[in-house]
Amino acid sequence: MKHLIRTSDFTKEEIFKIFDDAREFKATKFSRILEGKIIVTLFFENSTRTRSSFEIAAKRLGAEVVNLDVGTSSQKKGETMYDTVSNINAMNPDAIIIRHSVHGLPESLIGYVDCPIINAGDGRHSHPTQALLDLFTINEYFDGKTEGKKIAIVGDVKNSRVAGSNRRLLPRFGIDVNLVAPDCFKYEGDEFKQFNTIQEVIDDMDIVMSLRSQLERHNITYFESLQEYAKDFCITSELMERKEFLLLHPGPVNRNIDITDEVLKHPRCKVLEQVTNGVAIRAAILKKLILEDKQTFINLKDNLNEFGSSKEPFLFLI
Ligand code: CP
Repeated sequence: MKHLIRTSDFTKEEIFKIFDDAREFKATKFSRILEGKIIVTLFFENSTRTRSSFEIAAKRLGAEVVNLDVGTSSQKKGETMYDTVSNINAMNPDAIIIRHSVHGLPESLIGYVDCPIINAGDGRHSHPTQALLDLFTINEYFDGKTEGKKIAIVGDVKNSRVAGSNRRLLPRFGIDVNLVAPDCFKYEGDEFKQFNTIQEVIDDMDIVMSLRSQLERHNITYFESLQEYAKDFCITSELMERKEFLLLHPGPVNRNIDITDEVLKHPRCKVLEQVTNGVAIRAAILKKLILEDKQTFINLKDNLNEFGSSKEPFLFLI
């Protein structure tokens, strides 16, 4: 059995297979392959896109979805996260999707479950399904030719888990990652080129990924107003005309702070295409984790000898 905590849980080959399936689903070829399966979502942080696209993907594949209302759950009576998840697991779901503000929390639950855990965002750390749908959108836009493309990830790169997952995923597909941020939002590592303004890099970029300022993760107020930040980091029509680049944003967009109203309607701005792709990619991930990897797990169990070792040890390398 596999879990999806970070994008490195999948090999490049597995990601290309997910993209093949997502393309099929996007062409509305959903079949009810998950009929009889039950998927539980546990969202301890707000969500519009991730939660509803997982739910729509699951339902299109015939699964049923239980959204635990964490606000009225027994955690309000003092139950621990681990007891909550152990109890949900005792009801035999086929997958648990979890978003939490604590870095590493979804991974820490793996020992308490018998089904795949899917990380729908953990603190500043990771948002693997978002990065996979971002890469899928890039891949579609450039007809699969991602090698050598240059991306500027612009904004709160320090606090954004979307930036974190994309920083780790995109270079595996030959994409050169450049980070653009004010000093207070700079990434604290030296593996990437970092810039102070979009103007410095824009002429060289094929893709721009704008980010929202993660106000909920700031302990102090960095800017007097977001309008002050927008003067240097908002994606405007002027930038769109200056260089032909693909524009992405994971959402939610702060209009006229991250991207202007006008640019949001631009044909090269693919923010809503990303949302459409999110359903297809999440459907492909559910298919993989619930059907395909589970099948591998069952096959491996069937292959155990009386001492609990594999009769064909190499199979455990799958
Ligand atoms: N991109 C993203 O994670 O959006 P939501 O917070 O609405 O799920």
